[in-house]
Amino acid sequence: MLRATKMNRLNLTICGVDPASTEPFTHFGFRDVPEMDKERMVGQVFSNVASKYDVMNDAMSAGVHRLWKDTFIRRLAPPPGTKLLDVAGGTGDIALRFLNYCDQVHRDHTAQVHLVDINPDMVEVGRQRFKNTAFDLRSQVSLEVGNAENLANIPSESMDAYTIAFGIRNCTHVDRVVQEAYRVLKPGGRFMCLEFSHVDNPLISQFYDLYSFQVIPALGQLIAADRDSYQYLVESIRKFPTQDQFAQIIRNSGFYTVGQGYENLTFGVAAIHSGYKL
Ligand SMILES: C[S@@+](CC[C@H](N)C(=O)[O-])C[C@H]1O[C@@H](n2cnc3c(N)ncnc32)[C@H](O)[C@@H]1O
Repeated sequence: MLRATKMNRLNLTICGVDPASTEPFTHFGFRDVPEMDKERMVGQVFSNVASKYDVMNDAMSAGVHRLWKDTFIRRLAPPPGTKLLDVAGGTGDIALRFLNYCDQVHRDHTAQVHLVDINPDMVEVGRQRFKNTAFDLRSQVSLEVGNAENLANIPSESMDAYTIAFGIRNCTHVDRVVQEAYRVLKPGGRFMCLEFSHVDNPLISQFYDLYSFQVIPALGQLIAADRDSYQYLVESIRKFPTQDQFAQIIRNSGFYTVGQGYENLTFGVAAIHSGYKL
């Protein structure tokens, strides 16, 4: 039986697409959808989950996402005065960790982060989180609704660092996202991406699949009353390029990568990719 969720309404729209159409298709989880529809469908997912997003992250990963994000910022190791662009920044987890790092490690209050996210609901949760914090009062943080594939408001060669965490696999054209990152970075600037990735070990992979497909959508239903958005989440992870394929996309955009260009976290459940604009 069809459940009356917003996602189901979207599914019906997709089913109505003319199959003879020549417009380009992409994937939305395991389904093929017209490219022009993906952005809207992803938008619906994050509007559905925005208010429960942080709680669900903790529940799904038993808090491990916090350790991954801490490691991500330690690897970035921003020097004092860094100007960071955090894209697909959502509710501000990376932006906050970045500012905390600069404060705690360097006592630096000149670092700045600009968060861009396509979803106004996610940005609003982030805005409330920073409101009246010392970072906000010192104007170290700014937030904007915008698309990672076309950062129209960000001048070329204006940023020291660019981060994107758990966002790029939701974008329609991953290559365009990386090219935009290259454009906005200053020479010497660093691109860093934290994303769910692929587990190689067959034993761990079996367990991970079981957990992903049986437990995560059920948790989504239980905590956020939204199974479909979390079903999309686990499917989108499987559709994302492998660690090596993504490292190649980064190199193709002009970045220099050190070694293989990535570091696996928790057996490859997540990976940090990094590249320098020389
Ligand atoms: C899983 S959340 C990650 C949020 C945050 N970076 C974190 O690590 O907690 C993914 C975010 O990507 C955003 N997003 C999806 N497509 C986007 C696009 N084309 N441009 C900018 N943001 C996008 C979503 O709105 C959502 O806030």
